[in-house]
Amino acid sequence: MSTLILTFPATKTLAKLVAKQIKTPCEEIQVKDFPDEESYVKFKTSPKNKTVVIFNSFSRDQNNRLIETILAAGIAKDFGAKKIILAAPYFPYLRQDTHFENFDSFSIKYISPLLKNFDKILIIDPHLQRIKNIKQIGKNFEKLSANNLIAEYIKKNFKEPFTIVGPDKESRQWAQRIANLLGKQATILKKTRFTWEKVKIQSKPLGKNTIIIDDIIGTGNTILETIKVAKHHGAEKVTVIGVHGVLVGDAAKRIRKHASLITTNAIENKFSRIDVSGVIAEALGILSN
Ligand code: R5P
Repeated sequence: MSTLILTFPATKTLAKLVAKQIKTPCEEIQVKDFPDEESYVKFKTSPKNKTVVIFNSFSRDQNNRLIETILAAGIAKDFGAKKIILAAPYFPYLRQDTHFENFDSFSIKYISPLLKNFDKILIIDPHLQRIKNIKQIGKNFEKLSANNLIAEYIKKNFKEPFTIVGPDKESRQWAQRIANLLGKQATILKKTRFTWEKVKIQSKPLGKNTIIIDDIIGTGNTILETIKVAKHHGAEKVTVIGVHGVLVGDAAKRIRKHASLITTNAIENKFSRIDVSGVIAEALGILSN
């Protein structure tokens, strides 16, 4: 069965890198708005009898991206694709993974069934917090990870001594696993979040050369407070590595004033130094056999 990669505009670069590795055609999906802002989606070629891999980015304008992705899956199904896979390097709505308050939305529970036309949904380092197993979100959801790539990057680019720090308990699944791969112990801090802007990070010495690792860098406030702690206790060099550089507003600028910033290209930005295309290509190789 042949494979066809179809990408929405925001993931074009990553999709092409993956297509090259699995030697498969890659086409851009046509997407435009009707005058009233409804989405219109169209493929250039037939998906019939193919494994169709749809790429989309969900780091900005998530609601529209979800709708156009749902439409693309519908087209693939109606026009005879044999298998439909979503490559979502970053997947949204995972932080609202329970009812935090009465009458608020358990968002991921409502979003995941909308993607039932996908046989597989591949996500790089999904933000799994209260839901530990991704299969609880949906049987078609699969977790991939950039942990090995980040550990390799650190091995190549950093000289000992350095310390690995996770800003909060959720970051253990990245910071500690990466530290393990480097034969180290990570320091995992405690975080209290009061509002999106106001975050408090446990204060303790973190080392002279500190690498802070987190999955999502959103407003950047978690990272900025962690940098403050590191510097307060005498850190001379601080590097921030994020899997997903969502980088809301001027987050990157604020972080770069105090530390170096590196992200993967799961969300393409000018700080993307770690290429996750191999992880997706490998998963697709296994899936399309
Ligand atoms: C939360 O648990 C995540 O791992 C990140 O720490 C969080 O999303 C970062 O958000 P912000 O950059 O807005 O502080």
